[in-house]
Amino acid sequence: MSDSLGIRGYDYIEFYVGSAKMVAYWYAKALNMEITGYQGPETGVRDRISYYLSKNKLKFVITSGLKPDSVEILNFLNLHGDGIKRWAIEVDDVEKIYTHAMEKGAISVRRPQHLKNAHGSVSEAAIRLFDDTELVYINRDNYGHIFKPGYDKPIQNIEIQAEETGLMAVDHIVGNVRENEMDRWANYFNETMNFQTFVDFQKGDIGTKYSALLSKVVRSEKSTIKNPINEPYEGMKKSQIEEYLEQYHGSGVQHVAINTGDIISTIAALRKNGVEFLSVPDTYYDALRDRKDIQIKEDMNELQKLRILCDKESEGYLLQIFTKPIGDRPTFFFEIIQRAGATGFGKGNFQALFESIELDQELRGNLDSNN
Ligand code: FE2
Repeated sequence: MSDSLGIRGYDYIEFYVGSAKMVAYWYAKALNMEITGYQGPETGVRDRISYYLSKNKLKFVITSGLKPDSVEILNFLNLHGDGIKRWAIEVDDVEKIYTHAMEKGAISVRRPQHLKNAHGSVSEAAIRLFDDTELVYINRDNYGHIFKPGYDKPIQNIEIQAEETGLMAVDHIVGNVRENEMDRWANYFNETMNFQTFVDFQKGDIGTKYSALLSKVVRSEKSTIKNPINEPYEGMKKSQIEEYLEQYHGSGVQHVAINTGDIISTIAALRKNGVEFLSVPDTYYDALRDRKDIQIKEDMNELQKLRILCDKESEGYLLQIFTKPIGDRPTFFFEIIQRAGATGFGKGNFQALFESIELDQELRGNLDSNN
């Protein structure tokens, strides 16, 4: 099921990290993903190591550099710390969408390539996104092996015990950009890939007393790709978006939201696996119980115990929770989301979340705008 440009949905996400082996272990242990592929010196790749992890529709690649001249990776890490280098859209025809995007003003990173081996071929091309991120188009219809050419089974079969998390697929990917960049990047998606802006968080819409943001959401024709873009908006103190831009040293991916069909068991499992989440006070749940407009099927006491948030929309509701930043810098984090008829992104929870994030910012000494 693709749209007029042949966009099918999210494909893989590649992270550049300091030590791929150790970070891959975290993904296997904490998120209960399976290490199903590998490339490195043993497979003939000398300058980098990549672990390919999968679970249901999730496809993550964890990559680190091995040599001082692995400059593309090491320069990224030096500037940004661990983060997302590229995320991919699965398409019917890589040449077609790449050509369209270029005609409409996309910035090229890689022209279409056809990676081949004895198992078949994979087509890929990439355009620029934000400062230092890539948006990849991929098609692997003619490939019958692990991930893509260059990857093979992991060298060692490591058994990692973890609670079953039930994580399913990427729901949306969010970018943080500088002041006045949000409209440019929203237009970039809209013009190059026929996306449309469909939610607009205006000035004064989101924010606490201290920090605020502006946000637009662009989505593909069939809404299989949803990409909110945030920019900072002036507040009394430094906003979480400004903190990200400073600590990441530029614009990039802020969070990836992952779907689950049963968020209560997913979050219980993730907590057992050691994942840390943002919290909200009990008063949040008192207010939620007072709202009678939409019935929530899930047990409110369980939601409260696990600190899962709920946002009601006219057509339904969604349940969501945000991890703390997963790496050393307060930059990238995950969201876990379960949708029950709602198509939004939890706007009603932003206030409670901002207050929670600001507590952590204060601990890091990054809340005061005079810092
Ligand atoms: Fe989100």
